[in-house]
Amino acid sequence: MSGDPHKTFYLETFGCQMNAHDSEKVIGTLLNEGYRQVETVEEAGLVLYNTCSIRDKAEQKVFNRLNDYKKYQKQGKKFGVLGCVAQQEGEKIFERAPHVSLVCGSASYRNLPQMLVQLENAQLENAPMETGKSGPPKPKARSPIRVTGLDDRETDECFETEFTARTNPHRGYITIIEGCDKFCSYCVVPFTRGKERSRTSDSVLAEARQMADLGYTEIQLLGQNVNSYKDPAGKPGGKKTFAELLAAVGEVPGIRRVRFTTSHPRDFGRDIVEAIDSVPTLCDHVHLPVQSGSNHVLGAMQRLYTREQYLERIAWMKAAKREISITSDVIVGFPGETEEDFAETLSLLDEVGYDAVFSFKYSPRPNTPSLALEDAIPDQEKARRLEVLMARQREIQIARYKKYIGTVSEVMVEGRNEARSQWIGRTSQNKTLNFTAPALAAPKVGSYVPVMTTISFPNSLLGEMVV
Ligand code: SAH
Ligand code: SF4
Ligand code: F3S
Repeated sequence: MSGDPHKTFYLETFGCQMNAHDSEKVIGTLLNEGYRQVETVEEAGLVLYNTCSIRDKAEQKVFNRLNDYKKYQKQGKKFGVLGCVAQQEGEKIFERAPHVSLVCGSASYRNLPQMLVQLENAQLENAPMETGKSGPPKPKARSPIRVTGLDDRETDECFETEFTARTNPHRGYITIIEGCDKFCSYCVVPFTRGKERSRTSDSVLAEARQMADLGYTEIQLLGQNVNSYKDPAGKPGGKKTFAELLAAVGEVPGIRRVRFTTSHPRDFGRDIVEAIDSVPTLCDHVHLPVQSGSNHVLGAMQRLYTREQYLERIAWMKAAKREISITSDVIVGFPGETEEDFAETLSLLDEVGYDAVFSFKYSPRPNTPSLALEDAIPDQEKARRLEVLMARQREIQIARYKKYIGTVSEVMVEGRNEARSQWIGRTSQNKTLNFTAPALAAPKVGSYVPVMTTISFPNSLLGEMVV
């Protein structure tokens, strides 16, 4: 292993699954460039933050964190900011945190190897002068090191690498589409992740086969909006729609489960439900964020669908052969959201019967169109609506999860909770189903076993392995 302390890196990741998977690719890229990953900031020559900017003054939190690490600068450590805050704040980061040397958004990760060389070369040029025998060393004027990758919405390329360092040996992500062209009025993503660009289906399938060869059995296809996947493959007949790609990944020998996230309701086609119906490896779970149940708010959010159109998609799923578990994201307190609008969101929760809802208070974000709207709903009222919504959803889930008592589901064994003497399992519907098993029949992590549900909670199930 390299003894060069500058060729060690520490990487911390915030944000969504896209960011988590980007980090796996970034780690693989660095390892391939001769770097070694370390577990603490103290041990690292290069400290990297892969940041998220989705809400709650995210950039301020990143600056606070960078400030905490200023003290390490004297030890010659280099700092890099990656991800959505990097793209959003750009060169401003150097002004506010002058000890940062690298600022790189996700649309520029393919250039990381060159950027690392730039960093290393700048480091050599800036190396302090040798201490002379006669007298104190003259401090050399250091020019700050500034390496940037801020391609923004210009690139047409995806970040593909053969060196992805996946952290889990059984289930892994594959990016199929990067960026977003939807421009929902509250959202930073189109500004932080660049324009929509899809990988070829050939390349996605090759990666899926490679993962299957390595022993992976579960694949999750990723994109901010997987439904607007457009296969750029030039071969006649080679182009696949998203549903066709999904089915093809599900048919890769060795793959037992395929998930996908996130779906945008506008582009969610019936063919996706048909694919789930006909390919048993496609998981019976769809995350279809609705954001609001009110047409007035959906319009202001520029979501490009109505409550009625959304419910039509839900009806397609409810008519599927297998019961499809549906989950969602909701924003409360969007500018102009009235009590009536909010009541419509609550009634939508009742109507759909979600298995999980991720709910957020509206948070004004830089660059977004809704920033120009007055954020008139006080935080206290947003918090109240959030609480009401969560309480209603909790009741819905209590009733929904109860139904599973006495049924047997296949789970993938994800780990062991020693403190509770339980195994951690996940069903095809993406529900956590923890379970006990006789010591003599202890299952292997990564295996699939049948489990009978005996107790239900609002967010998970508990059961016994069927032996
Ligand atoms: N591409 C996905 C969502 C990405 S962001 C989609 O279109 O569904 C994840 C979730 O964060 C969103 O679904 C939304 O509910 C929430 N979110 C995004 N911007 C937000 C903001 N400014 N304030 C509050 N919540 C926000
Ligand atoms: Fe953001 Fe909308 Fe794009 Fe999702 S679809 S990433 S919410 S702009
Ligand atoms: Fe956050 Fe960027 Fe993902 S803003 S949610 S890390 S796309």
